[in-house]
Parts: sequence; C-alpha cells; structure tokens
Amino acid sequence: MRFYIETYGCQMNEYDSQLAEYELLRSGHEKCASPEEADLVIFNTCTVRKSAEDRVYGQLGHMKRYKKKRTIMVGVIGCMAQKSGQKLIDDVPHVDFVLGTDHLDDITRVVRFLQEHPGEKIVLTDQDDAFLETEELPRKEAQLSEFISIMRGCNNFCTYCIVPYVRGRERSRDPEHIIEEITRLVEGGTREITLLGQNVNSYQWGKTDFLKLIRMVHDIKGLDRIRFTTSHPKDMSPEILQTLMAMSKACNHYHLPLQSGSDTILKAMNRKYTEAHYRSLVETIRQADPLASITTDIIVGFSGETDADYKKTKEMMQFAQYDSAFIFKYNPRPGTRGWEIADDVPGRKKQQRLEELNAVVKETSDKRNALLLGEEIEILVDGRGRSSDIQQKGRTGSNKVVVFDSEEDLYGRLITVTITDAAGWTLFGEITSI
Ligand code: 5AD
Ligand code: SF4
Repeated sequence: MRFYIETYGCQMNEYDSQLAEYELLRSGHEKCASPEEADLVIFNTCTVRKSAEDRVYGQLGHMKRYKKKRTIMVGVIGCMAQKSGQKLIDDVPHVDFVLGTDHLDDITRVVRFLQEHPGEKIVLTDQDDAFLETEELPRKEAQLSEFISIMRGCNNFCTYCIVPYVRGRERSRDPEHIIEEITRLVEGGTREITLLGQNVNSYQWGKTDFLKLIRMVHDIKGLDRIRFTTSHPKDMSPEILQTLMAMSKACNHYHLPLQSGSDTILKAMNRKYTEAHYRSLVETIRQADPLASITTDIIVGFSGETDADYKKTKEMMQFAQYDSAFIFKYNPRPGTRGWEIADDVPGRKKQQRLEELNAVVKETSDKRNALLLGEEIEILVDGRGRSSDIQQKGRTGSNKVVVFDSEEDLYGRLITVTITDAAGWTLFGEITSI
C-alpha cells in the first residue's frame, strides 16, 4: 500500500511516526508525499489541547470524501487514539483502525488483517510494556540527526496536563538497548542524537540515572552531539547543569518549561518547584555559558491566575531572556484535576496575556540572536539553503540555524563560522575554519 502519515503534536509524536514509517516500509509498503496519492492515511494525533483534537476531527472529516471516490484505509494513532479508542470510530465511522501509544509495532499486522477483512474495525489501546523494548526498529537509513526515545510516560500529574492519563506511568528503556541503537546509527552516519522523554531527567534503570546514561552516550565514538528534551525544572539542578556543561558533546540548549513564574500558580499546577529554584537554573546557565540557549513553555490564564501572578511570569521571562518560547492559553482537559477547578480567567484576558508574552519572546529572541554577531560558532552542516546553489545551512549547538556560502559540499561536517548577520530568526555566517 502507499501510505501517508500526518503528524500533530510534540517530538515524541514525530518519533512515533518515524517508528510507524519504518515498520510499514520494512513490510513492503511504500511512502508517498500526500494523502491524495495514498491508499493508507494515518493520523498521529495530539490531545494536549482541544484545538489539536478539533484539527484532527476536521481532517478525518475530509477523509470521508476521499473514501467516496476510492478505497482507502484510515488509521488514527498517538495520544488521541490512546485516549478516545472506540469513541473515535463511533464518532467517525470511516476510521478503520485506532492504535494507542504502545501498539505502533502492531501496525503492519493490523493493516494486513484489514486488507484481508475489509469493513472490519480494530481498536488497540491497552498498555503494553513490551513495546518499550521492541520499539527500536531497523531504520531505513541513518539520518545525520536522529531521535532516540529513552523513556515513555509521565508520573508528574501537572494539574492541567492529560499526558500521564494518556501515555501512562513513566517507564525507562534498558540503557544497553539505547547504547546499541545509537552505536548502530552512528555506524550508519548519524552525528547528532536527541534523547527523548516526557521528563528525561528522571530517567532511571537500576543504578543508571540520566547523567550516567548521558556519560555512556558520550563515550560512543563518532557521535558529535547530544541533545535531550524535555527536562522538568524540578529534576534539574545547578549541579546537573554544570556536569552537562562540562561534557563536550552535550549541546548548549536547555528546554526548561516554566509554565508560570508565580509560586502560587506553580503550586496550583503541581509543578513542585519554586520561582527561586527556576531562577537559579537560569543563572547557572547564563553565567557559565552566555551563548547557550534557554527555551520554554508557558501557560497563561491558568485557573486563579491574577494580574500579579501573570506579572511574575512576565518578569521571569525578562530575567531568563528566552531564545524562544511557546506560549499557550490554558485549556482545561476533561479527566485532569484542572478540569474540576473553575476556569476563571476570561478568554479575552488569556488572549491579551498571550499576545503580550509573545511580544516579549520576540524581543528577547531578537536580542539573543544579535548577541551572536561577530561570534565564532561551531555548526553541524545539515542541508542546502534556498537562495543560491552554493548556500548551505547548519545548526549551532544552541539550536539556531546558520546559513553560509561554500562551493564545497560540507554536508555532515562540523565547521566553524563567524556570524555576520542576525536578521530575525535566521543567522548568516562566513566560514572561519573547516
Ligand atoms: N492547556 C494549555 N497548555 C497546555 N500544555 C499542556 N497541557 C495544557 C493545557 N491543558 C502545554 C504545556 C506543556 C506543553 C507541551 O503544552 O505548556 O509544556
Ligand atoms: Fe504533562 Fe507535567 Fe508530565 Fe510534562 S511533566 S507531560 S506537563 S504532567
């Protein structure tokens, strides 16, 4: 079958789509570039906000039209599949299968069954811990930069968040499997990996914790760069940051979701850290490495957020000088503890706060980029630019894109550039050394 996967949501979903893709390619299916050409359309879904769910329902609606014209199979995977299960088929009868977050490795079996039994429906949403260890799949071709899941699930139960209910409890993967997988990728040409988990800092397998795992990964010869996401601020400390900063392969990009800068709201959100603790993390990074990136997620208008609470968030943003930030309006999710509490900040106010904070991010991120002017920075060259035949691009450890000119194809190389322009998000550089 020719298949097309549409992915919504976070990097974990991007990773899961890759797993589904490898699994389908391995069993002889063929990838195509648009749903119009596909016999099998798969939606990998997100449920963290209602808007993400609405979008999927909209897209699923379009599939009905497609189905009228020709025979296609429609599948839903990911968080919404896990959460809604059979309800998705009840709501959208032209969906053929629903596979929860622990059942991606069943995808080819399910597709084959449905090919042989047209009209049947399949829903698999139970928790299957075996998946964690079978998820490492033979990749078609190692990419320069790859994601590796090191853990799944979450135990934190932040008041607003649906993830622990959908993705289940925190489960870490065997470090030996992780190291084997990365070693194999590096042998195939991968130079950079991103360790993925809902809360990577709480990785634990026997005596192996997150830092120990990072040290093991660091020892892999031929690997140049290690990224990781997401770090929960409660499990990050100035000491851990210092250890990470001393590791040459660990990239200087720290994604530390703040959510709120007010202790009252942090408590109500069950975040288990204080504004002062968060401030100490920012201070540690900014003092040790002024060019490191700090990025974040913030929720405005959480239940009970007063003007004074909101002001604290804005102050923290000014203190942290984020390189980039995702700002969200609070959206109560059924099933979370937040759902039980009055959603008492009016929509207007949420919108106003969102716009104001987006303006703050724009300002700080421009400032942070301007700071790089004249700096010599190492980049990993990962592709071609758009403006000319000789334009190429790469990424700094701090996760910024730099475009530069070179006659020689430098794909996959670590080179040093001097930053010459920082207009908007893209940086421009000139090669200093190859
Ligand atoms: N409403 C708004 N934003 C949310 N997030 C998680 N749950 C909600 C919600 N109910 C945001 C958090 C998280 C990011 C992935 O999504 O900021 O870090
Ligand atoms: Fe959700 Fe909190 Fe877990 Fe992140 S740490 S996935 S915000 S419950």
